[in-house]
Amino acid sequence: MALQIVIKAYHHRVDEQLKTSLAHTSIEPLLQDAMRYALFNGGKRVRPLLVYLVNQLLNGDVNQADTPACAIECVHSYSLVHDDLPAMDDDELRRGKPTCHIAFDEATAILAGDALQCFAFEILSSVNSKTNDSTKLKMISALAKASGDRGMVAGQAFDLRHVDKPLSLEQLKHMHAHKTGALINASIELGYLSAECEDAAIKSALFAYGDAIGLAFQVKDDILDIEGDTLTLGKPQGSDLEQNKPTYPALLGMEGAKAKLDNLHKAALDALMPFGEQGKMLRELADYIVHRSY
Ligand code: IPE
Ligand code: IPE
Ligand code: MG
Ligand code: MG
Ligand code: MG
Repeated sequence: MALQIVIKAYHHRVDEQLKTSLAHTSIEPLLQDAMRYALFNGGKRVRPLLVYLVNQLLNGDVNQADTPACAIECVHSYSLVHDDLPAMDDDELRRGKPTCHIAFDEATAILAGDALQCFAFEILSSVNSKTNDSTKLKMISALAKASGDRGMVAGQAFDLRHVDKPLSLEQLKHMHAHKTGALINASIELGYLSAECEDAAIKSALFAYGDAIGLAFQVKDDILDIEGDTLTLGKPQGSDLEQNKPTYPALLGMEGAKAKLDNLHKAALDALMPFGEQGKMLRELADYIVHRSY
């Protein structure tokens, strides 16, 4: 099956799961409206897709991938809501629509992000989930570690502290590996755990793939900030440049950034060698990440 068909199918699957999980009511409907707005405003669902593709590569039960796929998208969507806030990147467009703090207000956006983060862990630990308790605990731990002060949040903090400051290549790689790579690798780990796989060689090959596509994802995002257009991107083109953000094109120039992207693409494909033909979907996902236009 072509990747595009698979993307569509899992996109639909995770959306249905998210809708069902978020069907409860609250004393604060506006907060829930903001959570739903942040979740259902047109994201590509790359992280849930990774959870499903790794689960399927390892012959897992796809039903066990549903909850972690939802959880990682909740954390990712919360990270975007906070990333767009005036105190952070101060962006007004996300996924082609007004950012959460513009559509609602700043306090509601902060709280919706907070609530989405909690919700991710609520569903991962849910008694309804088909996964056994020990695996659930490993999933909770993996997602928490990748999200917090050793993962995404650390990368975001580092990013903000280095606006207008020169970075070494090593520091930039470190920053990207945290702010974007951590959740990409967590998606892979969740997929691996959902398949109840315990094979160190497989895990390390998948993590090598994750390291490469995680960094590639952010290098491409940096390139698209310059070469993309706002309509296609669904977020403001030139936002990094305007704020003098530390990015690969800023440090290496556009040619250097593209060469880096090329190397990461190759590294991702190399890491999949042990999987042979079975690795086809993940190979296509690597192609998609480096060739995407938004
Ligand atoms: C955007 O992520 C933020 C980065 C980590 C680069 P995506 O490009 O996956 O955003 P959506 O979810 O598709 O909107
Ligand atoms: C954000 O990186 C990564 C996150 C952890 C949210 P960016 O600030 O480059 O993401 P965009 O370009 O706003 O989507
Ligand atoms: Mg940012
Ligand atoms: Mg941003
Ligand atoms: Mg960006």
